[in-house]
Amino acid sequence: MEQCRPSSVGVLGIAGGNGLNHIDSRTTTRVVGLDINPQYLETVRERYSHLHGLELHCIDLSEQRVELEPVKLVHAALIFEHAGTDRCLENALSLIIPGGSLSVVLQLPAQKGPAIGTSQFPSIQSLEPHFALISSAWLLESLEGRGFRLTYQTKRTLPAGKGFWMGIFCAPKAHQRNLE
Ligand SMILES: C[S@@+](CC[C@H](N)C(=O)[O-])C[C@H]1O[C@@H](n2cnc3c(N)ncnc32)[C@H](O)[C@@H]1O
Repeated sequence: MEQCRPSSVGVLGIAGGNGLNHIDSRTTTRVVGLDINPQYLETVRERYSHLHGLELHCIDLSEQRVELEPVKLVHAALIFEHAGTDRCLENALSLIIPGGSLSVVLQLPAQKGPAIGTSQFPSIQSLEPHFALISSAWLLESLEGRGFRLTYQTKRTLPAGKGFWMGIFCAPKAHQRNLE
């Protein structure tokens, strides 16, 4: 958030809303949370009832189309691994206003441990049903091809060995939104 300070935020796969406590309501006046799990959304509603401009929507991001007023920042953390990069990525992009930002967190392949089978798709390595690692290089190339510009990236490793990549992209001033 320090990177962007947006007036509106969309959180894809919001789960229980961890991290929403860092939102500065003086700056961010609209917070749109989306998740497939209605119980998670109820938890967020209870935990953050005080948060101004909170909107929660139950949606399957891999199947349904997001038709909401776009926001300045879409935060997509550990969602593409679950919801894929087809409809879900289109939904993420369509929710960003032109010139807005997209922040993505992806889980990195384990450094050690059993080898992971490679799928026929270059972006995906399957681990288990409903979970597939997404290649940050693939995402970068895909988004740059659509005029998005990477403005920040970092990698973090947890003591247990799991690693994460985070990238923040700036959307083009006029990017094609999924309106078909
Ligand atoms: C691994 S959690 C990530 C939670 C949070 N974004 C974070 O980084 O801590 C994945 C979240 O995505 C939601 N999710 C999974 N598949 C989804 C889908 N197809 N549409 C919408 N939400 C989905 C899950 O319910 C869960 O809350």
